[in-house]
Amino acid sequence: PTKAVILVGGPSRGTRFRPLSLDVPKARYPTSLPLFDVAGHPIIWHCLKAIAKVEGIKEVILIGYYDESVFRDFIKDSSREFSQFKVTYLREYQSLGTAGGLYHFRDAILKGKPERFFVLNSDVCCSFPLEQMLELFEEKDAEAVILGTRVSNEAATNFGCIVSDAHTKRVLHYVEKPESQISNLINCGVYLFATETIFPSIRTAIKRKTERPRMISYPSSENLESSFVADDEDGEKNEVLRLEQDILSDLADSNRFFVHETKDFWRQIKTAGSAVPANALYLQKAFQQQSPEIAKPSATIVPPVFIHPTAEVDPTAKLGPNVSIGPKVIVGPGVRIKESIVLDDAEIKHDACVLHSIIGWNSRVGAWARVEGTPTPASSHNTSIIKNGVKVQAITILGKECGVGDEIRVQNCVCLPFKELKRDVANEVIM
Ligand code: GDD
Ligand code: GTP
Repeated sequence: PTKAVILVGGPSRGTRFRPLSLDVPKARYPTSLPLFDVAGHPIIWHCLKAIAKVEGIKEVILIGYYDESVFRDFIKDSSREFSQFKVTYLREYQSLGTAGGLYHFRDAILKGKPERFFVLNSDVCCSFPLEQMLELFEEKDAEAVILGTRVSNEAATNFGCIVSDAHTKRVLHYVEKPESQISNLINCGVYLFATETIFPSIRTAIKRKTERPRMISYPSSENLESSFVADDEDGEKNEVLRLEQDILSDLADSNRFFVHETKDFWRQIKTAGSAVPANALYLQKAFQQQSPEIAKPSATIVPPVFIHPTAEVDPTAKLGPNVSIGPKVIVGPGVRIKESIVLDDAEIKHDACVLHSIIGWNSRVGAWARVEGTPTPASSHNTSIIKNGVKVQAITILGKECGVGDEIRVQNCVCLPFKELKRDVANEVIM
């Protein structure tokens, strides 16, 4: 059998997602980045959708350090929708790093004796070609397969970089966020590991960490578990173990580490602005697959557009392409919305125009108002742009419960929750 693990991280990881802060416990809106809606579904729903296409996966484990309650409803809903597998959430008592969590919960992962398991970063948007990764894994009798994609040379050093043999697809070197450019084939944050070898590799990395000279004074070295939880001199917990820095470069020496290069779409979802391109990519995919969730094209619907069944959109409003309208949103007559996400309970009054923007939960955009960002090139892995020599957000974002007055123009702004905009603003962070 095969399993899948999704690394969901924890509350501290969402800071770049401001002002769509997800930090209010028991809020009626999503309380974590993995549950933020793109293309009408939580980010990790798209992971589950892809996992559901792989035959024989009976269990998906979410690992993170959010409160237990955060994923409860999501898990309940997904067990109904994806009845072929069981979804569970395992909570780290604190951030253990991308490999630390896997190791900590190894018994749960190993239960049922899976030969291999997928690991997915939760903050990526991707077509998740898991079947192809499995094929490569079998064909090469691999220990590990990583999903790679090509990005521009400038963007590459923000990611893990892979040097591979083009012919055999073998990973020769792996360097996490290198200082200088070594390859434009980057780590998509999607892996397939052989259970038999990955845990011993992690154990070796732990051993290496705990046996560093300055740890020598430590009493017992035979009991790895206990020395492993000690603080080192930097105050950094030794148990924090990162797949990328501590494990992957070693794997490259094994000769059984391969890369599947995807030509399909891939983006990271780290900043709030990056939800807009991710939304566009997932909507386009759903449209190509003729998903019944996508609104039918018409004189006023330029596909792809997602409209939640509980939203009220006036038939004279023109939407799309790449627009998601959330639950209970109200869109008035003569409105124009393009390349945007409108979140739950927001209202867009008549003849307003929303372009390249995110409208936060329960916000109101007044009549004849304009809320707009700037398009970014499809290949760009960055949603900030330079305007008049200054770095500004390409995507305009209104936090929750903001108000934009009638006829007000908001351009390339990030607006914190609960603000009322009564004058025109451009290239500003409104606090
Ligand atoms: N459970 C758990 N515990 N999950 C974690 C932890 C942790 O302590 N730390 C991070 N994660 C999760 C995050 O939620 C995210 O889904 C994933 O692990 C990776 O997050 P980061 O550690 O912040 O890495 P990154 O996003 O900067 O870079 C990684 O992803 C890139 C692709 O998006 C690296 O793998 C890069 O090499 C890669 O290119
Ligand atoms: P379409 O021709 O509508 O497909 O758009 P376009 O591709 O020419 O789009 P552009 O980015 O130029 O602007 C989007 C659309 O929004 C324009 O076609 C305008 O008709 C419409 N629009 C622009 N400003 C406003 C406005 O203030 N209010 C409303 N209701 N619509 C506007």
